[in-house]
Amino acid sequence: MFGRSDKLKNLISASVLSADMLNLESEIRKLEKSGIDMLHFDVMDGVFVNNITYGLPILEAVNRTTDMFLDVHLMIDDPLKYVSRFAEAGADMITFHIESRSSVTETINAIKKCGVKAAAAIKPATPAEAVFEYLPYLDMVLVMTVEPGFGGQSFIPETAEKVRLIRNRISELKLDADVQVDGGINDKTAPIVSDAGANIFVSGSYLFNAENMAEAANAIKEVKTSR
Ligand code: DX5
Ligand code: ZN
Repeated sequence: MFGRSDKLKNLISASVLSADMLNLESEIRKLEKSGIDMLHFDVMDGVFVNNITYGLPILEAVNRTTDMFLDVHLMIDDPLKYVSRFAEAGADMITFHIESRSSVTETINAIKKCGVKAAAAIKPATPAEAVFEYLPYLDMVLVMTVEPGFGGQSFIPETAEKVRLIRNRISELKLDADVQVDGGINDKTAPIVSDAGANIFVSGSYLFNAENMAEAANAIKEVKTSR
C-alpha cells in the first residue's frame, strides 16, 4: 500500500514511547532528520494493557508540529468508540487489536469512513488465522512481537512464524496489505521478521538509545532477506 514496486521496501516506524516526553518536539525533529518513515504513537488505556500512556491532546500537538505519517497503535478496550477522535486528531493510520471488545468489521469500517488507513493487530498468543477473514479489508496487519504494554522488551522468536503465515496468505489472495512488526525490533531481530515477510518495522528503544539514529534506522531498512 505504501507504493512499493515488485520488491517489498522496508519502512521504519519510530515508537515515541521511548522518546524524551519533555522534549518531544526536538525528538520529532531528530526522527525527521534520521530517515524515519513514520511516527508510531502507542495509546494505552490501563484496561486493555497494564500501562497508561498518552492520547488525543498529545497526538494533536504532534500533528501540528510535523508532516510525518502518524501511525497510531490503539491498545485500548473499546477502539470503535474512539477511532473518529483519533482520526480528527491527525492519525494517518489507525491500528486496533482484534482481541479488544469492539466488533472487528465495524471498527475497520469506522476507520475507513474517516478516510484513514485501517490496520488490525494481534497479540503474541493470538493465532495468525484469526485475521485471515479480514485481510481483504485491511491496509496493514500488525503482528506484535512482544506482549503489548511496554517498550524495551525482548523479541519473541515464535512470532516470526505468524508473520510468515500472514504474508503467505496476503500473497495467495493477491492483496497489497503491509505486515508490521512491533516489539524488540533491532538490527539483530529485524532480519528474522523481514525474512518472514514483514515490511514495516516499529522500533523504540533501539532507535532512541542508538548513538546515531540514522545509522540504526538504516541498519533495519537495509536488511537483506531471502524473499
Ligand atoms: C509495546 C508498544 C511498542 C513499543 C516498542 O506495547 O506497542 O510500540 O514501544 O518498543 P521497543 O522497540 O523498545 O520494543
Ligand atoms: Zn506499538
